Amino acid sequence: MAEVLEVKNLNKFFGKKQVLKDVSFSVSEGEILGFIGPNGAGKTTTIKNILGLQSFNSGEVIINGYDIKKDFSKAIEKVGAIVESPDLYMYLTGRKNLELIANLYKNIPDGRVEDVIELVGLNNRIDDKVSKYSLGMRQRLGIAAALIQSPNLLILDEPTNGLDPEGIKEIRDLLKKLVRKEKTAVLISSHNLLELETICTDVCIIQKGEIVTINSMKEIKKTSRENYLITLDKTTGIKKIFKQDVEIVDEDVIRLYKTKEDIPNVINTLIENNYNIYEIVKDKQSLEEAFLSKTGGNEID
Ligand SMILES: Nc1ncnc2c1ncn2[C@@H]1O[C@H](COP(=O)(O)OP(=O)(O)OP(=O)(O)O)[C@@H](O)[C@H]1O
Ligand SMILES: [Mg+2]
Repeated sequence: MAEVLEVKNLNKFFGKKQVLKDVSFSVSEGEILGFIGPNGAGKTTTIKNILGLQSFNSGEVIINGYDIKKDFSKAIEKVGAIVESPDLYMYLTGRKNLELIANLYKNIPDGRVEDVIELVGLNNRIDDKVSKYSLGMRQRLGIAAALIQSPNLLILDEPTNGLDPEGIKEIRDLLKKLVRKEKTAVLISSHNLLELETICTDVCIIQKGEIVTINSMKEIKKTSRENYLITLDKTTGIKKIFKQDVEIVDEDVIRLYKTKEDIPNVINTLIENNYNIYEIVKDKQSLEEAFLSKTGGNEID
């Protein structure tokens, strides 16, 4: 898959303090990369560096094949972004805000403003002043604004910050729709992995300015689902019984993806099928625990 964004060995200092240490990751077409880390980890700094809002000390940022240090305008041409919170004129209507932005670009087709309003679901309130919008509506308008020039890379810095669970769900649903309809690659930061669990295809975890893990969501879920290690006398035929819920770890050990409530049934099934059980050990690690163990909790240095 074509890489839309490549970040290579980014290093950034504020005075003597190094806040980004060899940060490298990439986002491909069709990918929604969750950029996860606790407060102060370096998410916003990385994003500002990618967008050319701050300069970095060393490293490379390539967007759609263009190096932002050498070819800034080409590199940034197809990028839509919201950093920290969207820049909006509060005393103007949502529609006027979008029209002003559309006017900043050449070649915006007629009807694009209408399309993005529809896409973010603001039709009913678009002629109200932004000062009357809820936080979630402002985020939606911000996303609409970022989408006007049909970017193929959308960068959102904590778009769910300050939203209630309903608002978070709305933003999630909106992004899912967007990726389906416009095929935009997305880099989305958050300090909460669970919030992004259902939308991200991949996850990149940053801690104290360093990338600690990059993995597909599928892989992360696999290693973090509640599961039990069971030692048996044999494992032959076990796949037929537990199908996709089982992995054979060793010749006499299986990993079973089941919950505590399932265990009595599991034991019965094993006995009925003539397996001898020697040991059952819980190996649970929730998604959040997996995240916290990677980031060393939410401590800020
Ligand atoms: N302009 C600045 N001058 C000095 N230090 C800065 C500046 N901006 C950020 N920092 C420091 O860089 C580190 C990373 O900050 P950054 O804002 O990138 O974190 P973050 O991951 O976005 O955190 P949050 O979740 O709180 O938004 C922090 O230690 C912060 O104090
Ligand atoms: Mg931040």
